[in-house]
Amino acid sequence: MEVFGASVETKVILVVEDDLRVGESLCLLLKRRGYKTLFATNGKEALQLFRQQEINLVITDLVMPKMDGIALLEAIKNLKPETEVIVISAQGTIEKAVQAMKLGAFDFIEKPINPRVISLLVERALERQTLVIQNRDLRSKLEDRFHFKNIVGKSEKMVKVFDLIRHIAPYDSSVLIIGESGTGKELIANAIHYHSPRASKPFVKVSCASLSEGIIESELFGHEKGAFTGAIASRKGRFEMAHEGTLFLDEVEDIPPSTQIKLLRVLQEGEFERVGGNKTIKVDIRIIAASNRDLQEEVRKGNFREDLYYRLNVVNIKLPPLRERKEDIPFLVNFFIEKFNQRYRMNVKGVSQRALNRLMDYQWSGNVRELENTIESALVVNHPEVLDLPHLPQEIREYSGVPEVVPFKIGTPLQEIERKMLLQTLRATKGNKRKAAKLLGINVRTIHRKIREIEGERTIS
Ligand SMILES: Nc1ncnc2c1ncn2[C@@H]1O[C@H](COP(=O)(O)OP(=O)(O)OP(=O)(O)O)[C@@H](O)[C@H]1O
Ligand SMILES: [Mg+2]
Repeated sequence: MEVFGASVETKVILVVEDDLRVGESLCLLLKRRGYKTLFATNGKEALQLFRQQEINLVITDLVMPKMDGIALLEAIKNLKPETEVIVISAQGTIEKAVQAMKLGAFDFIEKPINPRVISLLVERALERQTLVIQNRDLRSKLEDRFHFKNIVGKSEKMVKVFDLIRHIAPYDSSVLIIGESGTGKELIANAIHYHSPRASKPFVKVSCASLSEGIIESELFGHEKGAFTGAIASRKGRFEMAHEGTLFLDEVEDIPPSTQIKLLRVLQEGEFERVGGNKTIKVDIRIIAASNRDLQEEVRKGNFREDLYYRLNVVNIKLPPLRERKEDIPFLVNFFIEKFNQRYRMNVKGVSQRALNRLMDYQWSGNVRELENTIESALVVNHPEVLDLPHLPQEIREYSGVPEVVPFKIGTPLQEIERKMLLQTLRATKGNKRKAAKLLGINVRTIHRKIREIEGERTIS
């Protein structure tokens, strides 16, 4: 198993063994596998070497003069905890080997040493060590450059978003955030508020889609006692609650037209009346709106007021979907592993390269939220040491991306090229014939005919 970001530099292994014959043959074996080796005949000598040089892995005998394997292990784990230690146990030292495991040894191997077993162990230990170091480096990187509190992204597109946020947060201008479901709109709205001078004042959210036409106005503007049946007391609306702070209008496209016009007035004049009231209330708020639809398109269709759109869209933030910034996925995955390690008190070390590759290939229709949920359930269900392919849900495990290129040998019969191209395009469109026809520049009737011709030969998979 190849590991994400594993460096290609030569790994250094320290072999500690008082039996010269065993130690030397072990060193020889490891050298043949491409590792650099150092050799010590007791714990004391080993520790000296360990202090002087960069050592990735220690393989140590347990019973030795001067300083034994257990004492060495403890000293190493104190000095550099990410160093992995494999202990060699001889007859009668199994008890000690088990004790070593409890003290953080990676594994133990019994004498006589089987070359195949030790090679495998070494490989796995180094792999784990790389992951531990990598996670630590990643964490510190996340903390400085790419971190906007709890927002991760190092893709060019996200870095641009972060720059924009820093730039506009201090001002009172309205912000419109557009992005598919789960791309982090609410997270960004929060970040803007908490990077603005209004940070110590309320951040109030309204989910416009969840409010029926009848109650949205009283939710937004409040109502006076007796304004409608059931209004037994007067009540403040969200606008009043957000006074001096920020009001976040989520799913703003769902505000009914009659309310849109009232909203426009608040935005223009900063004042409104409660439902059933005639006292004019003045508020000082900043508005951040979010939508997962192309709001301009809604304006064109006549579903959303153009004047309101321009009022909201003073600053426009477009959040790219995950499929347009796959390079963020490794960072997000590690960020979520860390997050759930803390939440569930787990100690997952990282993610394997093959699992990461698959996570990057996968088409995340639910974007970051879907990725986050996937990582959470994989960790909670499996408690893995390292998140790997088998821990991912079947749908992702078995996902095979459709290649974007279909290669042909020179001289391939045109008929064959047409057949293959048609099939691959259909796979890419998940069987959508209309889309496939459009991509291929033929009409739908033609594609149906061609499919029938091919189906004469085989069924489409
Ligand atoms: N860049 C990111 N870094 C870290 N976590 C993120 C990022 N983007 C989104 N998330 C996480 O993904 C989840 C969804 O984010 P959020 O609720 O902000 O998305 P949304 O665009 O408002 O979604 P919806 O349209 O469904 O309301 C949250 O748990 C959030 O913490
Ligand atoms: Mg949201």
